[in-house]
Amino acid sequence: LTEGPLKGRHVLVTSGPTHEPIDPVRYIANRSSGAQGTAIAAALRDLGARVTFVTGPASVPPPGGVTVVRVETAQEMAGVVKATLPVDAAVFAAAVADWRVANAAGQKMKKDGTGTLPMLEFAENPDILAGVAQMGAGRPRLVVGFAAETETVEAHATAKRARKGCDWIVANDVSPGTGIMGGSENAVVLITADGAEVWPRMAKPEVARRLAARIAAALA
Ligand code: C5P
Repeated sequence: LTEGPLKGRHVLVTSGPTHEPIDPVRYIANRSSGAQGTAIAAALRDLGARVTFVTGPASVPPPGGVTVVRVETAQEMAGVVKATLPVDAAVFAAAVADWRVANAAGQKMKKDGTGTLPMLEFAENPDILAGVAQMGAGRPRLVVGFAAETETVEAHATAKRARKGCDWIVANDVSPGTGIMGGSENAVVLITADGAEVWPRMAKPEVARRLAARIAAALA
């Protein structure tokens, strides 16, 4: 199991959605299943990597043979990622909530009978990918981000790569009609320093195997 081109390498993968509490029983989430991140972790493991898999509350089970760290919120995910460094490569496949509820209630919020509506206030979550991509000493040699876009995928993803400071962006079109978010297939564009590569639509495990092979080549 530990043989392969990534033997001796430690790779971090974030995956799944985050849950941002409103009160102890309610939260804000998104439609990420964690399927693509889970497949990537499994593919890296299959190439011999030691994988730390940091996952939000996903709807697919984590892969075997990796170190699984379960988190709920973006802030927890940021803390676990920081504590996991240094790594050789980091793949940020999680659909991290951009905002958390700043005025989350300590007790379950109740209707007061007068029709008064609750008001949620938001605070910006830490950008985990950008933080790692832009760190100086201790930066992983390869930092890979994802871009879930619904329009002009390539242009938006190229801009995102520059803004985040990561090495690669795996971009996909998550428009409702594509069935990609929560589905079993993915159609991605890989953005690197050399430009954009359009990959054909394929099963998420196949996207994962190809990406893992590329990561192995980049670290070789
Ligand atoms: O900023 P945006 O959500 O468009 O970027 C997506 C990429 O950034 C993904 O790789 C995601 O895992 C990462 N991200 C993150 N922390 C955030 C927001 C996004 O690591 N707070």
